Amino acid sequence: MKPGFQEWLECIACHARYDVLEIRYRCNCGDLLSVQRTPGWAEQLSPSLFDSRRTSRNELDQSGVWRFREGVLQTEPQHVVTHPEGSTRLYQRPALSTWADVPALHFKHEGENPTGSFKDRGMTVAATQARRVGARAVACASTGNTSASLAAYAAQAGMKALVFVPAGKISSGKMAQTLGYGAFCLQVRGDFDAAMALVQEVCQKLNVYLLNSINPFRVEGQKTIVWEMLQDLAWDAPDWIALPAGNLGNTSAFGKALLEAHQGGWIKKLPRLLAVQATGANPFFLSYQDGFRSTHRVTPETVASAIRIGNPVSHAKAVEAIQKTGGSVTQVSDEELMLAKREIDRAGIGCEPASACSLAGVRKLRQQGVIERDARVVCVLTGNMLKDPDATVSAAQMGTSVTAPEVEPRLSDVENVLARTLGL
Ligand code: F0G
Repeated sequence: MKPGFQEWLECIACHARYDVLEIRYRCNCGDLLSVQRTPGWAEQLSPSLFDSRRTSRNELDQSGVWRFREGVLQTEPQHVVTHPEGSTRLYQRPALSTWADVPALHFKHEGENPTGSFKDRGMTVAATQARRVGARAVACASTGNTSASLAAYAAQAGMKALVFVPAGKISSGKMAQTLGYGAFCLQVRGDFDAAMALVQEVCQKLNVYLLNSINPFRVEGQKTIVWEMLQDLAWDAPDWIALPAGNLGNTSAFGKALLEAHQGGWIKKLPRLLAVQATGANPFFLSYQDGFRSTHRVTPETVASAIRIGNPVSHAKAVEAIQKTGGSVTQVSDEELMLAKREIDRAGIGCEPASACSLAGVRKLRQQGVIERDARVVCVLTGNMLKDPDATVSAAQMGTSVTAPEVEPRLSDVENVLARTLGL
């Protein structure tokens, strides 16, 4: 990978610059940092370059992240920690289009990544950067998906992994992954926001490299969800892209990806972003409602444990993403998001509860007339159905008379049950 453009860290507020190899997550002024590169870089790249790599056998080209490497991170190939990841599918299902009343509705399933969520896209880049800066240990706070991903990439890279999760508040599937991949996991008596504050202190004190999305290299990787989606659509941009919003790293990444793709002329128009929060964890929605004049902090509670977050770290970047794409923010109740999840599951696609916010939000904005019926819309499904089996089973039991009854191993018993339930 020959470096073609310069890269540096830049403050999103005062635009102070720092060396790309400096370990820091905030500017001296206190604001967030983002990775920037030589002006005009995107214009010098053509989508046909990325398209040509789709049929290549090169490992970097086969990653749906490193396929876009000129706009992600320029580094020597030996530093790259890749599974590979990405190259997820884009689905259409008539039943879901009908349910949302949006005929041209697509689903980009990020649950098809190696550890079952979109986090792998950011983690391959942040783990690579960790290797570049010589980190021996990496850490994050997590509601479960970031920790699973960090654990897997740290294992591959041979680095110590330390994760902080809210005690008793992450799903069994995510906990199993985190421990199984070999991370050291501390359960913090508090919510995600408390764990997030704690991990920042720990990283500072113990010289551990922080891999939450406050780390700007995570954002660079997550941009490729959008770029690959645009590629899937032959660079014909949709009207709306909907995603669940928690700590707001992904909303920030989507905004940056769209602005860069538009600036580079890879797409002719800028899609609008729709960030969807759960009603019980809605600080970004509250802020949107007052025109982003203030930030809010809530005590989070929602069935969608992945986004049970009350004080999102990437607020400022996400505000820019919504404003610059003419986007919108909405909230959906636990009931609404679980209904949407059931539709996605029953369509044979499946996702975890938080992911279903995207469809629930699209349906809501369609009902409100904000999204037009003839709009082309992509919902991003952020996590796999198997991430939270308990939520799926309890929801199935909640909404249907058929659960999973026990029977004696006798044909007549089976016949009786099937006659009663399925009418067979
Ligand atoms: N969907 C899923 C499945 C998630 O795991 C997350 C975040 C989000 C959506 C929201 O993305 O935070 O960038 O706004 N999960 C983090 C974690 C917090 O620790 O796994 P965001």
